[in-house]
Amino acid sequence: MQRTLIIIKPDAVQKKATGKILDRFIEEGFEIKALKMLRFTEEQAKQFYIVHKDRPFYGELVEFMTSGPVVAAILEGENAIQRVREIIGPTDSEEARKVAPNSVRALFGTDKGKNAIHASDSEESASYEIPFIFSGLEVV
Ligand code: PPS
Repeated sequence: MQRTLIIIKPDAVQKKATGKILDRFIEEGFEIKALKMLRFTEEQAKQFYIVHKDRPFYGELVEFMTSGPVVAAILEGENAIQRVREIIGPTDSEEARKVAPNSVRALFGTDKGKNAIHASDSEESASYEIPFIFSGLEVV
């Protein structure tokens, strides 16, 4: 069993897609081990995405992630990190609609920035991201 972090981004929360996205992961067999709505401060978003600090889109990404509430969850399942990444599809929602039309980003995202959902991309990122968002008491 493996755990991963997902964040339903401000665009998808605003579209009222939270329930549909969570339901997709439940139907795919994952267990929700923690769940909450939050709004990142600029400082928190910068720290969460620190790995991208030198990328040209860093400012835009931080601005978008602080633009409204998000919903974060820990999902548990076999090979969860890789399987969840497959289910969400490619980063760019426009590309996702071509190559993975049933993926979460194809169904609920717009483009490379407004792409509906984040998911940990490795064991290393999951072990940074999970305790960044959830304290031990919030995890069942
Ligand atoms: S990588 O590491 O090259 O594969 O980067 P990538 O997966 O493409 O993107 C990493 C995260 O940055 C977001 N992103 C952007 N945000 C705003 N504007 C632009 N142009 C942009 N390009 C990439 C992308 O949505 C990824 O967010 P997360 O939350 O990690 O999915």
